[in-house]
Amino acid sequence: MNSLLIRNARIARPDGATIDGDVLCEAGRIARIAPAITARASETIDAQGMLLLPGIIDPQVHFREPGKEYKEDLASGSHAAVAGGVTSFLEMPNTDPSTTTQAALDDKLQRAAAKSVANYGFFIGATPHNLEEINRATPACGIKIFMGASTGSLLVDKPQDLERIFANGTRLIAVHAEDEVRIRARKAQFAGRTDYPVHSEIRDAECALNATKLAMSLSKKYKRRLHILHLSTKEEANFLREDKPAWVTAEVIPNHLFLNIKDYSTQGSRVQMNPPIRTAEDNALLWQTLRDGVIDFVATDHAPHTLEEKSKPYPDSPSGMPGVEISLPLMLTEMVAGRCTLAEIQRWMCWGPAVGYGIANKGKILEGWDADLTLVDVATRKLVRDENTFTKVRWSPYSGRELTGWPVYTVVNGEIAFEHGRVRDKVRGRPLQFG
Ligand code: DOR
Repeated sequence: MNSLLIRNARIARPDGATIDGDVLCEAGRIARIAPAITARASETIDAQGMLLLPGIIDPQVHFREPGKEYKEDLASGSHAAVAGGVTSFLEMPNTDPSTTTQAALDDKLQRAAAKSVANYGFFIGATPHNLEEINRATPACGIKIFMGASTGSLLVDKPQDLERIFANGTRLIAVHAEDEVRIRARKAQFAGRTDYPVHSEIRDAECALNATKLAMSLSKKYKRRLHILHLSTKEEANFLREDKPAWVTAEVIPNHLFLNIKDYSTQGSRVQMNPPIRTAEDNALLWQTLRDGVIDFVATDHAPHTLEEKSKPYPDSPSGMPGVEISLPLMLTEMVAGRCTLAEIQRWMCWGPAVGYGIANKGKILEGWDADLTLVDVATRKLVRDENTFTKVRWSPYSGRELTGWPVYTVVNGEIAFEHGRVRDKVRGRPLQFG
């Protein structure tokens, strides 16, 4: 039986306290946590000076397979994941073809089984015509609705189609909330502008708020489990703060916490995404809303495009940025600076997403729970550089920033998947189950 002994770690408890000790992983589970374990194991890690966290769950990534493997695939995307301490990911259906049928979902699951080093789950994408399929397809972490068009061809923007989906079924609905009618009108209004910042003007705060309100009203009408993806504006944050039923969750991504429209001047289309980056004021209010628990967890919306594609003039430059490997270093840097806590990081990035998607036994370091772990060095500062990234597109919107808190080892189901800058590409993740 494969076993792994992690010795002398500072172990994060779910409440944010830490204890010094050893962790023994057996058969993919955390078998024992104790001050000193003498058992023999197939592999041993000396974790002296390092902090042991539950593996990060990234509940929103785009890994481009099938169809756009030149940008990313389930191997490269999962390598980037484990390099960033991410042990499980939920992947979006806007691939080519879109994941809108059981057959397309099965195809992705097979591909992931063959090449993903991290654990994986997939969304099923809604169209105006696949109601039965979205409710039946299994295993799926939820139904994804693009209420506004983004990368790919998925779109459900007619109120009657949205209503039909919310009214029928019980499964979680995750929405990309942007108002397609308003986006189209504003595209026409701003036609001719080719500067990248116009993207944030076209898809303004009202686009996001309108769609978030519509999704919320449908969710309330049918008591339907709703998850609002990548909340980006202070207006939406205030709206949720006023009234958010227990069956509604929301997430924020680092790009809307750490980047704003000032970054267009140095980064141009690198920071173009949907929903767009906003203002410093939005950053601050989203942080507060996350701290207050109104926003439930953090995803990355890892959405790689090549720099060549990104260099096209607006509006031909694609929207989206890679991010799966950098969210933990960004957040740990905040923690080291005293701006968030170890308990918050675990809630936002480990057990929060697990609870939201009904994933059992993940997100906490507890005996009997899955041995998905990341061992981080919170002392070393390191510069983010495009050439050091693991994503196939080899760039990061955070290049040039110095961050503190980097994964040294990532353990998936009790196996070392990443160590000292290298991925063990023979390791295979498992399909996630959703309760
Ligand atoms: O900017 C984005 N890029 N937003 C999305 O909703 C999709 C994503 C992508 O797949 O490129």
